[in-house]
Amino acid sequence: MNRRTTTLSASVALAAALAMTGCSSSSEDGKPELQVSGAFMPQPVLDMAGGFLTIKNDSGTADKLTSVTSAISDDVTIHETKNQKMQQVKSFDIPANGELKLTRGGNHIMFMELKKKPKQGEKVSIELHFEKSDPIKVDLPVEAAGHNPQQH
Ligand code: CU
Repeated sequence: MNRRTTTLSASVALAAALAMTGCSSSSEDGKPELQVSGAFMPQPVLDMAGGFLTIKNDSGTADKLTSVTSAISDDVTIHETKNQKMQQVKSFDIPANGELKLTRGGNHIMFMELKKKPKQGEKVSIELHFEKSDPIKVDLPVEAAGHNPQQH
């Protein structure tokens, strides 16, 4: 009787250990793991600017880019481009094991009423906010007004 109880609790412990080590492509607290690359802002011509970058999600958990903040503007929104017209959206999907690409002529970050006009070679700090992940701070290098890495 006593022996049987011991065997049972041992197998329960083993099952728990397996559950903990199995399928943990997310970080320890269960949040998606996001990586930002290729970020830039074309040098603004008027008092507005676009922001472009790629967010890679190496986890099995989908996330959403919900907002962007920056000291350079109090009016930062996220836009999609449809039929060459841009419109504000509430969020962008960042698929599990996929990526969100913000590119010229496509989805982008929109900075309106810039408090100052950054010049090529400067950097603009922004913070990306997500539905699940912790915010990520990114420095956007300011590139030439016509810069478009997609065309190379
Ligand atoms: Cu826009």
